[in-house]
Amino acid sequence: MKLLVCGGAGFIGSNFIRHILAARPDVTVVNYDKLTYAGNLDNLAELPSDRYFFIQGDICDAEVLDGVFAEHAPDAVVNFAAETHVDRSIHIGSREFVMTNVVGVQTILDAVRRHKTGKFVNVSTDEVYGTLQLDEPRLFLETTPFEPNVPYAAAKAGGDLMCRASFRTFGVPVVVSHCSNNYGPFQFPEKLIPYAIFKAMAGEPVPIYGDGLYVRDWIHVADHARAIQLMLEKGVPGEVYNIGVDNERHNIDVVKTILRELGKPEDMTVRVEDRPGHDRRYAIDATKIRRELGWEPVYTKERFADGLRETIRWYRENTAWVEKLRARQAEVNAHIK
Ligand SMILES: NC(=O)c1ccc[n+]([C@@H]2O[C@H](COP(=O)([O-])OP(=O)(O)OC[C@H]3O[C@@H](n4cnc5c(N)ncnc54)[C@H](O)[C@@H]3O)[C@@H](O)[C@H]2O)c1
Repeated sequence: MKLLVCGGAGFIGSNFIRHILAARPDVTVVNYDKLTYAGNLDNLAELPSDRYFFIQGDICDAEVLDGVFAEHAPDAVVNFAAETHVDRSIHIGSREFVMTNVVGVQTILDAVRRHKTGKFVNVSTDEVYGTLQLDEPRLFLETTPFEPNVPYAAAKAGGDLMCRASFRTFGVPVVVSHCSNNYGPFQFPEKLIPYAIFKAMAGEPVPIYGDGLYVRDWIHVADHARAIQLMLEKGVPGEVYNIGVDNERHNIDVVKTILRELGKPEDMTVRVEDRPGHDRRYAIDATKIRRELGWEPVYTKERFADGLRETIRWYRENTAWVEKLRARQAEVNAHIK
């Protein structure tokens, strides 16, 4: 099977490419990525050169993308390409978010339709559902209405709605996922877990937004990669699948665990002004993907400590990667308060 992966040089995309090449010896991957600040070819070093190919390009560029479909004739497409950092969507501007997360997805949908590609998995987020309250029994279901609160989430919701409309109107065989917050190796250190690890490793206090009592359902990226493989193989076109592991944690507790693991005092934190529109809690009901596609996560709630420990070890051991990213992160996010 020939697979076109869009945005495969980022965090989840690169983990997915490593996973699928190992899990499916019959798969060849063409990775199409613009290489924004978040794209990093170091994430994909040492892959088999006869089964992995890289092309630099923008998913909004219909002409170039069309040429890639014509030349490589993929059997399926998985899209990870997105602007993903909420803070950037607030402090730098939303335009790039709308371009990539809405227009880019539409451009892929058009190409899939034109070239009659077998399946398209569009990777999305639970943030499209908005927020839950801390004490609310409700979880996000696939039928929960979209109520995005920040420009990143609104742009992702826009792309997801274009997927729905393309399936309903044209029969484009698209499947959409809504996954909770990921952690694991190769994550750009602007997101909470690698950010906290980087800060703690440097002996600096870890900034905490507001009261720190924000809740996320943390999933290991390896479990997300396995879920995407199942969606690719067995997902029903037109369907949406929520992905989460019932592992709700307060941000402050996640940071304290990281500090403990790194032998630092638990109070090596500093409170910073809260993010506007900050969603209090995300929590996923993943019954559908478990029941219908047989997905079984390895890093369940009980194994979160193992997953986090392995992740911290990865960042500690990959010092060259970390040092390069530390420099890049400082440069990229210098203008975010
Ligand atoms: N990180 C999470 O916790 C999380 C959780 C749920 C869903 N998601 C979704 O998973 C996907 C991947 O997230 P990630 O954390 O790996 O993101 P990332 O920011 O690490 O990587 C994004 C990748 O997309 C590429 N890209 C950006 N704009 C592009 C464009 N116009 N054309 C081609 N390539 C482009 C970048 O170069 C980069 O390689 C996103 O759609 C995101 O919304 C992420």
